[in-house]
Formats: sequence, C-alpha cells, structure tokens
Amino acid sequence: ATRVPLVAGNWKMNFDHLEATYFVQKFAWLLRDAKFDYRRCEVSLFPAFTALRSVQVLVEADHLHITYGAQSVSVTTQGAFTGDVSADMLARLGCRYVIVGHSERRKYHPEDDANIVDQVRAVLAAGMQPILCLGESFEERRQGIELEFAVGQAHDVTRDLSDEEAARLIVAYEPVWAIGTGMVATPQTAQDAAKAIRDDLRDTFGPHVAEVVRILYGGSVTSKNCTQIIAEPDVDGFLIGGASLDVEELARIARLT
Ligand code: G3H
Repeated sequence: ATRVPLVAGNWKMNFDHLEATYFVQKFAWLLRDAKFDYRRCEVSLFPAFTALRSVQVLVEADHLHITYGAQSVSVTTQGAFTGDVSADMLARLGCRYVIVGHSERRKYHPEDDANIVDQVRAVLAAGMQPILCLGESFEERRQGIELEFAVGQAHDVTRDLSDEEAARLIVAYEPVWAIGTGMVATPQTAQDAAKAIRDDLRDTFGPHVAEVVRILYGGSVTSKNCTQIIAEPDVDGFLIGGASLDVEELARIARLT
C-alpha cells in the first residue's frame, strides 16, 4: 500500500499554549537529531483550542514538517453559538485535521451519530480532513459483536459521503476498553477491526477509497507495543493519548512507526 503512516498525538485537555510551544520545539529537535524522515511517516499533534495559534506560529516560523489539528469542531459555520469554534476558524489556523467523535466527546457531550456526520461534513467543507473515531465498548466485545459494531459506526457516519469526500477520511479504531487503561488491543484485534472497516469502505465506495483511507489504531499505544501493531497490513498509524504527553516517548513511537 502507498499509505503514509500517521502518528497522531491527541493531547486532550492537557498543555496550555506555553507548554505546547515548549513541547513542539523539543519534539522537532528530537526528530531532527534522529534524522527523522517526515515523508516516511507523518506526525501530527492535537492541542487544545487555546494552543493552536501558538503551534501554528511556531510551525510556520521554523518551517516544521509537523502537522496539527483540533480535537472537535462546531457543526455550524458561524453565529450565536456560545463556546463553539467553527471549521473555518480552524482551517485558518492551519489545521489539517479535526478529530471527530472521540469516545470522550460521545460520553461527556451530546455527540451522537447525526452530530458526528455534521462535524465530518463541516470539516470536509472547510478543506480539512476528519479523523473519525469509533470503536466498541467492553460490553460489545463481551457479546462478540465488536466488529459489526465498529463497522456499523463507520458505515452510519460515512455512507452518504461522495467518493471524493470519503477519500479524505481518516478512521481511528479506538476500542473504548483500551483507552487510557493500559489494556492495548492485540495486533490481531487491531488488524481485524481495521480490515473490517476497510472492507466496508470498499463495498460502499470502491477500491480507490479503500486503498487510500488511513485507518489508525488508538488505545494505550506506547513505544513498547507500537512496532507489532504497525506491522499489520491494514493499520496505518496511531491515535495516541497518554503517551503523546511525553515528548521523548512520542518521538520514539514516531521513529518506530
Ligand atoms: O485519542 C486517543 C485515545 O483516546 C487513546 O488514549 O493512548 O491514553 O489510551 P490513550
């Protein structure tokens, strides 16, 4: 496959703009010292809204090859929506990606599939790429319906997209039981889900979309388990929470991916 792997660090609600600046500088130094090849593997950071402008300024000033994006987005374009941030605002900050439908957003905010579809559309309309998060909870896994569940989530959100829109998707398979628990999925589990999601994309949109869409694994990824998981043919990178807060650890994962 010609898919360039993506290592995405989701900082969640950590790091203010000064901490973010310090992290990005150090991260870029570490990768430069390691002669990291950004064409071989893309690295992307997902700061809080308040740190995005600082990251943009630094990336542009130092001509860094690190990409970045936001963790969520409003479904509306502008107006009386107190507390919301629009996709156009994020695009103007140089965001390439927006994480959509993270399980923490689904849990703590009223984000259902309809809202997530609208976020995906808003991100695409602003010229960015959505990283659509999905994955089963422990209960679906216990019932043995985890693949149907994850594929169903992907299908329900993506089925009405055009082929051109679908080709710009990134999917992050993040089983809820693996997020922040230290219980990483086995490489086979990650592969089975990624393959099932890719097969569904092929059925819906055809071989081109199935070939180009990157499918990430997320959930307790560290430098100790990333090598085995990335060896799987349908896993194209990682969405990393806890381990992305440690700059040396994130640089290690990038080098190993
Ligand atoms: O977005 C990242 C995922 O929620 C994974 O978080 O690496 O802390 O398990 P984690």
